[in-house]
Amino acid sequence: MNLRDRLVAQLETARHRSSVLTAIDDTELVAQHSPLMSPLVWDLAHIGSQEELWLVRDVGGREALRPEIDGLYDAFQHSRASRVALPLLTPEEARAYVAEVREKSLDVLERHPLTGRRLEEAGFAFGMIVQHEQQHDETMLATHQLRVGGPLLSAPPPPPGRALPAREVYVPAGESVQGTSTEPWALDNERPAHTVSLPAYWIDTHPVTNAEFTAFVEAGGYRDPRWWSVVGFQHVLDEGLVAPRFWSRDSGGTWFRRRFGVVEPVPGDEPVMHVSFHEAEAYARWVGKRLPTEAEWEKAARWDPEAGRSRRFPWGDGDPTPEHANLGQRHLQPAPVGAYPAGASPLGVEQLIGDVWEWCSSGWEPYPGFEAFPYREYSEVFFGGDYKVLRGGSFGTDAAAVRGTFRNWDHPIRRQIFSGFRCARDASGV
Ligand SMILES: [Fe+2]
Repeated sequence: MNLRDRLVAQLETARHRSSVLTAIDDTELVAQHSPLMSPLVWDLAHIGSQEELWLVRDVGGREALRPEIDGLYDAFQHSRASRVALPLLTPEEARAYVAEVREKSLDVLERHPLTGRRLEEAGFAFGMIVQHEQQHDETMLATHQLRVGGPLLSAPPPPPGRALPAREVYVPAGESVQGTSTEPWALDNERPAHTVSLPAYWIDTHPVTNAEFTAFVEAGGYRDPRWWSVVGFQHVLDEGLVAPRFWSRDSGGTWFRRRFGVVEPVPGDEPVMHVSFHEAEAYARWVGKRLPTEAEWEKAARWDPEAGRSRRFPWGDGDPTPEHANLGQRHLQPAPVGAYPAGASPLGVEQLIGDVWEWCSSGWEPYPGFEAFPYREYSEVFFGGDYKVLRGGSFGTDAAAVRGTFRNWDHPIRRQIFSGFRCARDASGV
């Protein structure tokens, strides 16, 4: 498929998903389901607003469609909690607006040479807008999860799991390449490629499961400050946390979870999800391990020791298929451990891409040689805050919006996102 056709197909895939997520009652679209999130109708019009700004006005050099609404949909002007009180477009107006913008951006795409300024080279601006829409689709999926009420979404269950030969693998010491200078749609924070040198370490072959995490809960892990950082344990006390978000226990002691409006027993063999960085860190300490650094995560995901180079994905350089990873909201939950043997890295590490975002111990920092592009607010303004890095994408992340080099970040207390983790440990002293 040529570049232009691929861009059209990806724009359409993203829009189909946005439509599925917003094909619900108007009252659900305008409601604020959580102070952590925008009303869904805000996300929808914001998707259109960003597409208009970048593709229609900037790349296309065309007139503004609705300049008067720019401010309403500027994420930096209004906190998520305050957006419900703004004079937002109605669901009907928002749908008409995003459709009109899309018609114009497809027209721009048809006529554009897809070369020129850096923003236009290899269709970067179009790829950026595809990723932006898919990222908001994942945010909207998280809003669906926070919503209280019966199920509105449905999807088939993920493939079955299998037992893995080992719980962890040894990663030899040495140099590897982190980040990218060649991936055409990589965002500024993934650049540039650079060599890192790490001591040997062990890393889990799969994310920590619900059964493993339940053992921590049942052992009183949430009540024992030994496992927590000072700030993490204070947060547990302040919020009264006893288990991952959306979990509850019945009178017989069985743990249940609420998942997109369905209450079901917590499945033991799925990666644990809706845990904060603090919870991940405490669990890791309890089992005598630690979280991987971001560099360790990426080396485990991309480094091919035989070829002596870093791959685009754990399985190779080809784009993800349904055999490789649980991505794109194809299923509405993580897959059980072992469900994706074809997605294994050369070192035998599985489910790095998809299923759950994985917390790393690293803070959100630029790579050496970082340059903000195309605007500082994409990543630069967040560097150095209290953010922690998340890697690999979740079942709610589209294949267009994740790579072996893709970096995400969030506050260490966040757990409404589709977040889990795996553990690592030093190889010294073994
Ligand atoms: Fe946005």
